[in-house]
Amino acid sequence: MKATAKAHTNIALIKYWGKRDESLILPTNSSLSLTLDGFYTTTTVDFREGLMQDRFLLDDQPVEGDAYHRVTQFLNLIRRLAGREELYANVRSINAVPTAAGLASSASGFAALAAAGTKAIGLELNDQELSRLTRQGSGSASRSIYGGFSEWQMGSKVDGSDSFAVPIASAEHWDVRVAAVVLSSRVKKVSSRAGMKRTVDTSPFYPGWIDGISKDLREIKAAIHTKDFEKTGQIAEANCLKMHATTLAANPPFTYWNDLTMRVMQTVQEMRANGIPVYFTIDAGPNVKVLYLPEHEKSVEKTLREIPGVADVILSKPGQGISYL
Ligand code: PMV
Repeated sequence: MKATAKAHTNIALIKYWGKRDESLILPTNSSLSLTLDGFYTTTTVDFREGLMQDRFLLDDQPVEGDAYHRVTQFLNLIRRLAGREELYANVRSINAVPTAAGLASSASGFAALAAAGTKAIGLELNDQELSRLTRQGSGSASRSIYGGFSEWQMGSKVDGSDSFAVPIASAEHWDVRVAAVVLSSRVKKVSSRAGMKRTVDTSPFYPGWIDGISKDLREIKAAIHTKDFEKTGQIAEANCLKMHATTLAANPPFTYWNDLTMRVMQTVQEMRANGIPVYFTIDAGPNVKVLYLPEHEKSVEKTLREIPGVADVILSKPGQGISYL
């Protein structure tokens, strides 16, 4: 009972930042992202009779501890859905994403695990059902079921049945590019899980964050449909800054940025002042993602690479949704 699936990571243009239910992973706000072609995870799940426990290899290394626990917990959901609670699995994942460096390896990781795991055990789920299940592994992963732009609708039900992602526009609709500026591949210090919890619980700025979401979402969806790059970029950049502002007001306060993060942000704003339409966004880590259009690729890449302390610049096009290999 074996299946292999590939899933791409995604970059949130309107961030998911806060949970209303920690165990079901239900968010306090809806979010919207672009799936990226350049970063993906390929996962094989093999359910076998006779295994005494799950095994998880990531990039050919056995994984234990918290990361292992999250995978087995997620496999429990799949086993329960299929009524096969006696079956354990060998799971093998290959990550084409620097793990936990703020490039959202959990999004591609849980989307690939959900797709391969459900297929291997013989469940036939539609995209919404798969997105809803994937959400319970990692929230942002719910959006990686689809290619192009997708929206995770927060829903309102306590059981989470109406909290899943839906497609907004395909990868072919609009060729918006993303440059991932890699500053550090070190594992992040405050996980997104812990960071959003502390912010929800303690930041006086949190209500302000929530207040702006519906307008940001409404406006960015309109801008994506009309392919208005400046509008899309402005909303995404401002939304990112609002999310990060909530962390500065948390107790104890924290930030995902370092000095290089700020330098890249400034360089992006300088490029813009010089007439190149580029915008940044940042997740729960120091790395910066820069949004640009294909005609500016050469100059954007060159300028970013010239910033002292930049380890790498990885360029990506819009990516596709889940595929089975
Ligand atoms: O799904 P998680 O736990 O990896 O959280 C993702 C949080 C952000 O990346 C900061 C925002 C987002 O919407 O992806």
